[in-house]
Amino acid sequence: MRIDRYLANMGCGSRSEVKRLIKSGLVTINDQTVRNESFQIHPGFDIVVCWGAEVAYRKHIYLMLNKPAGVVSATRDSRERTVLDLLDQKYLNKGIFPVGRLDKDTEGLLILTNNGDLGHQLLAPKKKVPKKYFAKVSGPIGLEEIESFRKGIVLDDGYQTRPAQLEVVDCGAECEVIVIIEEGKYHQIKRMFQALGKKVLYLKRLAMGELSIDPSLRIGDYRELTLEEIDLIEKPLLN
Ligand code: URA
Repeated sequence: MRIDRYLANMGCGSRSEVKRLIKSGLVTINDQTVRNESFQIHPGFDIVVCWGAEVAYRKHIYLMLNKPAGVVSATRDSRERTVLDLLDQKYLNKGIFPVGRLDKDTEGLLILTNNGDLGHQLLAPKKKVPKKYFAKVSGPIGLEEIESFRKGIVLDDGYQTRPAQLEVVDCGAECEVIVIIEEGKYHQIKRMFQALGKKVLYLKRLAMGELSIDPSLRIGDYRELTLEEIDLIEKPLLN
């Protein structure tokens, strides 16, 4: 692979920015300064250093987005803004897609990656990856609703959900709850509450598997996952 393409793919800048870095002598390959932007390297074998820091080879990109309400979890849409519209140019045209869907009005953790296999596995029903949500719900929630969630709920289309966890955080005029589900049917949480005569007023995903949303990530912001976080989502899928 050309060195300029490698650096751009690893997020060191746009193609023209990395060409400037190379021409300025700021890039070494196996300790040799390389000023030729078309120099061929072997990703994963050659040691590439830019501005004094190693640019390790990463095959895939993994992002954690704190999804805002008002954007759709899709890669393109003819009418709506998508989660990809929130990303920097350098992440575009890299095959990145959102892992699963949050509704347009749902906030919180959305993983974006170009690792199709990982995305597929995280969503595979047999992997039973738990998804944890915070919700505000109309009306009182008590032991009866907790028990209904525990048993699984029959949705409007007759589908019987798997057992789910419901925990009450605070109850006043509306209730704040934590819900954990292991599947991802269309509007699942809203429809589970609807089946009990309740309405979801606000919904935010807090975690997917072992990966929790970074509390310092403001709504609409995103960042790359750390290596530890990538392990957190990948390891449980190996079984
Ligand atoms: N359940 C819903 O109803 N909506 C979401 O966005 C996610 C889970």
